[in-house]
Amino acid sequence: MQRMLEEKDFDHIDEPVFFTTSQVGAAGPEIGKAIPALKDARDIDELKQMDAIISCQGGDYTTEVFGKLRAAGWEGYWIDAASTLRMADDSIIVLDPVNLDVIKNGLSKGVKNYIGGNCTVSLMLMGLGGLFKAGLVEWISSMTYQAASGAGAQNMRELIKQMGQIHAGSEALLANPSSAILDIDRQVADTMRSDEFATANFGVPLAGSLIPWIDKAVEEGQSKEEWKGFVETNKILGLSDSPVPIDGTCVRIGAMRCHSQAFTVKLTRNAPLDEIEAMIAEANDWVSVVPNEREITMRDLSPAKVTGTLGIPVGRLRKMKMGPDYLNAFSVGDQLLWGAAEPLRRMLRILLE
Ligand code: HSE
Repeated sequence: MQRMLEEKDFDHIDEPVFFTTSQVGAAGPEIGKAIPALKDARDIDELKQMDAIISCQGGDYTTEVFGKLRAAGWEGYWIDAASTLRMADDSIIVLDPVNLDVIKNGLSKGVKNYIGGNCTVSLMLMGLGGLFKAGLVEWISSMTYQAASGAGAQNMRELIKQMGQIHAGSEALLANPSSAILDIDRQVADTMRSDEFATANFGVPLAGSLIPWIDKAVEEGQSKEEWKGFVETNKILGLSDSPVPIDGTCVRIGAMRCHSQAFTVKLTRNAPLDEIEAMIAEANDWVSVVPNEREITMRDLSPAKVTGTLGIPVGRLRKMKMGPDYLNAFSVGDQLLWGAAEPLRRMLRILLE
C-alpha cells in the first residue's frame, strides 16, 4: 500500500475494491478517493466481479481461494507473491525490469496468472541481470545472508527480542570496563542456550548466531530456498529448456529486512572487469556498482544502508584466483520491496497501461 500510494497507482484504477480476511465491513484504507467498505476475501461471488486481483496474503490464501475462483468461471488477472502458483505452466514469474519481454509475451498469449518470484531470486536478478542479458553467465554459486523478514513479521520481532535478551543478560558485566571479555562471552552463550531464550519462531538462536537452512528439505540435500534459486531464475529468464546451473547455501542471519548474497560467477568468456561493471550498472534503474574499495564498500554495501530503499548495490567485483573467467560479486537488497511487493504493483501498472 505504501508503494502504491507513493506511485499514485490508484489514480489509474477506476474502481479499487479492498478485501479482508479478518475485518469485513470495516472502512478501507485512505487512498484519496471513495471506496466501498472492506469485503470478504473468501466471498467468491464478490471476487468474481474483479478484472484483476492483487494479493499479498500468502500461499494459504491463494491455495484456498484461487481454484474456487477459476472453477467459478473467473477469467481475470491474478497477481500474488506466493509460491503456490509460481512454477505452474500457466503462470509467469514477474520481475519486469528483468523479464518484461517474457511478461509481454505471456499477456499476448492470454496468460492470466502473474506471480512474484522468491525474494532471493528476484534480488539476485535485479543485481546481476546485466550479466544474464549479455549471455555472460555459465553458472552461478550463490551464498546467501538472508534477513529475518523473509521468515515473517513474528520472526523480525523475535530477532529483536533475542538481541535484547543477550544485552540484558550481559549488561552488568558490560557496564564494568574492567570485566573480562571471556566472562561476557560466557554470559552471552549461557543466555542464548537457556530455556528462557525467545526461540518460538526460529526454533533456535539467530541473534549472535546464524541458521544455515531455510525452508524445508527438497531433494539431493538441498533446501527449498536453494532449489528455487535454480528453477525460478531460469523460469523468469525464459531459459527453462536450457537452464543455467545455479546453486549455493542459503543462510539466515540477524539482519532485519535486507537479503545479501555472495556470488561466484563462472563467465562464458574472459570479459574485462570495466565492461562487466558497465553491464551490471546499466541493466536497470535501481542497480548500482559499488567500487571494490574498503571504505565505500563498508558504507554502501550493507543492509543498514539499503534497508527501506529500492536500491540494489552490487560490489566486491573482482576476478578470482580460480582464473579470469571467475567473477566475485556481492549484492544487498530489501526483500520486502523488490523481494515481494514491488514486482506485484508494477505488474498491475503494466496491465493498466
Ligand atoms: N523465502 C524467503 C526467506 C523469503 O525465507 O527469506 C520469501 O521469498
